[in-house]
Formats: sequence, C-alpha cells, structure tokens
Amino acid sequence: MIIAIDGPAASGKSTVAKSVARRLGARHLDTGAMYRAVAWLALERDVPLDDWSALTGLAEANPVTFEYADGAAIATSVRIGGRDVTTQIRLPVVDANVSAAASVPGVRTSLVAQQRELAGVSDTVVEGRDIGTVVFPLADVKVFLTASAEERARRRQLDLAAQGHAVEQAEVQARLERRDHIDSTREASPLEAADDAELLDTTGLSIDEVVDAIVSRVEAAR
Ligand code: DC
Repeated sequence: MIIAIDGPAASGKSTVAKSVARRLGARHLDTGAMYRAVAWLALERDVPLDDWSALTGLAEANPVTFEYADGAAIATSVRIGGRDVTTQIRLPVVDANVSAAASVPGVRTSLVAQQRELAGVSDTVVEGRDIGTVVFPLADVKVFLTASAEERARRRQLDLAAQGHAVEQAEVQARLERRDHIDSTREASPLEAADDAELLDTTGLSIDEVVDAIVSRVEAAR
C-alpha cells in the first residue's frame, strides 16, 4: 500500500508522515532527502547548479539509499554514492540550493525511478512534492498538507534553532516563500495537489489530529 503525502516546505509533512508510518507499521520514505543529497553532492564537487547535464550524471551515477533498523519505520541514515550525508543534507546551504537541483528534469527522472523501487518493497508512506501527481499517481491514499506561511516559518525557525542556527522569523519566511515559488513554478513536476488528493490545512491542528485524520483515511481505504 502506498500513502502519498505532499505539501510545501515546513507544512508538517515529515513529522506527520513519520508518525503515520509508525502507526501503520509501514515504512517512511523521505523523497526530499534524496533531492537534498544530490544538491549536497553537487556543492561538494563544485558542480554548478545550472549545469543540468552534469547534475543529471551525478544523480544517475550516485544512487541514494536509506538504512532502516530491523522492522523500523524510520530510516536511521541516508547515503549518496555510499557516503553518509544524514546530517549534511539539513545544512542551511543545502536548504538554499536544493530547489535548483530539484528543478532539473534529468535529476527528477533518476530519483523518481529510485523512489518507485524503494517504495515497492513494502507498505510505504512517501512524502514529497509530486508523489500523488507523478511518482505514484495510483497511490491508495493521497494527502496534500498546507499551513499558512507564518505558521510554516514559525515551525521551521524552531527546527533551525534546535539545530543551533538562530535566524529571524521574517528571514525564514522569505526563504520558504522563495523556495515554494521555485518549487511551484518549475517546468518539471511542479508542487501541486493531485485532483484526487485530500487537502488538509494543518494551521490550527495538532500533529495528533492530522495523523488521526490520515490513519482513518488509510483504514477506510484498506
Ligand atoms: O521536503 P524537503 O524540504 O526536504 O525538500 C527539499 C527540496 O526538494 C524542496 O525544495 C522541494 C524538492 N522536492 C521535490 O521537488 N520533489 C519531491 N518529491 C521532494 C522534494
């Protein structure tokens, strides 16, 4: 069974998708981590982010893999080309550059193929931007999470602070809006809700309320 959870940056996708996976005894697959890994590798190798052909080659030659402890829902690490990049892909420099890497059609084709393989193994909760539209158009359940820009900036600022990065909320919101704009207006698989996705605005909701709503939907679809 595939549960597709899409939405913009800091809409609560990761927290919700992980919790849904735990509740269902399914695996969680974070496709954003895969685009982040490619962006990180490009930065590390000084590959210009506007060199589409080099970026595509990089993604094709360096598969992204996740390690899961026995029976665990959540991956403990992510690797690209065998290198552990679990921590590095969350750095602000990757935040700032990942949208450019994710706009490259060849990078998307390569990662979408990898995502279909990774999720084909068992019941999976897949989070991203184009899961319900492109990667798994026949997913059993599709949810599109949203939240106001202010709320998303507040959440992202808390995440950054927890990692030791102090950034003004207005600056965080400006960066999120810049990233949303690139993600929603790019030519290849832009961020958009599938016609048959359930839209869930999480602004005034607790995590548990959102998770309960999705789990009920999955049970109804079983
Ligand atoms: O969810 P995230 O913030 O970790 O995603 C990182 C970037 O990757 C974000 O700018 C959008 C992009 N992305 C994408 O284009 N398609 C996906 N399926 C997942 C993420």
